[in-house]
Amino acid sequence: MAPVLRTEGLTVRFGGLTALDSVDFEIRRGEIRAIIGPNGAGKSTFFNCLTGVLRPTGGRILFNGENIAGLPSNLISQKGIARSYQITNILPNATTLENVRIAAQSRRHAWSMLRHHSAYLDIIDKAEAVLEAVGLRAKAHELAANLSHGEQRNLEIGIALATEPELLCLDEPTAGMSAAETHDTMELVRRIAKDLTILI
Ligand SMILES: Nc1ncnc2c1ncn2[C@@H]1O[C@H](COP(=O)(O)OP(=O)(O)OP(=O)(O)O)[C@@H](O)[C@H]1O
Ligand SMILES: [Mg+2]
Repeated sequence: MAPVLRTEGLTVRFGGLTALDSVDFEIRRGEIRAIIGPNGAGKSTFFNCLTGVLRPTGGRILFNGENIAGLPSNLISQKGIARSYQITNILPNATTLENVRIAAQSRRHAWSMLRHHSAYLDIIDKAEAVLEAVGLRAKAHELAANLSHGEQRNLEIGIALATEPELLCLDEPTAGMSAAETHDTMELVRRIAKDLTILI
């Protein structure tokens, strides 16, 4: 099977510092792959290139065979790569459900929402299914700011999932979590991996 994602000679330089040095990598559909390395190894830089946050200095990023290196992040998101950030990326003054709903909506056409009430209800259904998947259904109407650190990290995974990605990139999803929370999040990742390709 052809890889979902493949990098060829992916290189990023920050002035004199080579953060990524000709990285060749591939991941196939349905795989869960983890990138490991010490602080400063270049893990976040790699994720930033895949998701359009950073334009690589050189090399190619093939997603389903198409070179996406240097495309803006909104286009890459529409093509089906989602990510969670190492730094939290949620809207603290919105509820848990609203955070996920807004992400789910970003994937659909605004006009269809205005014309069809049913499209709006679909979005709510989708958002509720995502909350179920990340174990936050009971917290749907809680403000995101009031969730625990571990719950906020799982909400971030939910926000990424709500965009219905083909490839989900999670940059250190268990950073700052207790041992119990880490265990729960890894269970969560295995649970959602059924229909997804995941890069951690
Ligand atoms: N925007 C930037 N400008 C300059 N240097 C950068 C930039 N982003 C990252 N770097 C440098 O590139 C190298 C790789 O950083 P990166 O954040 O990708 O590492 P990491 O593996 O994610 O580390 P950590 O485990 O601490 O998250 C580091 O030396 C870092 O200082
Ligand atoms: Mg990092």
